[in-house]
Amino acid sequence: MKKVENVKFSKVDNAEQGSVALFQIIKEELEKDRLHSIGLATGNTMIPVYEKWVNSDLDFSNVTTFNLDEYVGISADSPNSYAYFMHEHLFDKKQFKETFLLNGLAKDLEEECRRYEDLLEEHGLDLQLLGVGENGHIAFNEPGTSFDSVTHVAKLTDSTLSVNSQLFANDEKIPDTALSLGIGSILRAKKIVLLAFGERKRAALEKLLEGHVTAEWPITKLLHHDDVTIITDLEL
Ligand code: GLP
Repeated sequence: MKKVENVKFSKVDNAEQGSVALFQIIKEELEKDRLHSIGLATGNTMIPVYEKWVNSDLDFSNVTTFNLDEYVGISADSPNSYAYFMHEHLFDKKQFKETFLLNGLAKDLEEECRRYEDLLEEHGLDLQLLGVGENGHIAFNEPGTSFDSVTHVAKLTDSTLSVNSQLFANDEKIPDTALSLGIGSILRAKKIVLLAFGERKRAALEKLLEGHVTAEWPITKLLHHDDVTIITDLEL
């Protein structure tokens, strides 16, 4: 495996082993009393992680969570919302101190983003979990997003719409707009762990391994953070 400065790679055999490895990090941070707030991601990649989490008997009732993103115009009751995903996979089964989510139905979206960013600043993030899009997006920071961005209203690219619409249920139309933590907000987390499994994620990891930070591949900004671990099953 190639190497880049700052970023640690953890090679696993498959997604199952990768989710065990990530949960081990979460457990260690909790046991060392270094986990008071955690940033959470959605997507298929995260489902086995949340399974481990739910099945553990660890106590997270002093931990505050922040989700990365949410679709605009989708109600929290819809199975297509990230709020619903989080309740189904984690929040309804495990107790936390507080669980913050972006409200994609807010009347004033800019105001909603400011509210969320203020909360983030107040709490800080001890650990941020990330997946990655096929085009290298993190949260909903699509190619071209400013590296200084904070929580904002994000336009989704055709590539993301085509990938993510496959997960949309009940004939609901996928919105082309979302609310998302910015790249700047994510980079403020003390520690970042990104999971990437399967060939569809290879291009994004290879870009990162080239070692150049470019806005065309938002994932590459992680090269400027000093505590990033990438857990992957890909031979790179
Ligand atoms: C969405 C989310 C991202 C996530 C990505 C990958 O676009 N906004 O935060 O990383 O999906 O999803 P999956 O894990 O299903 O590949």
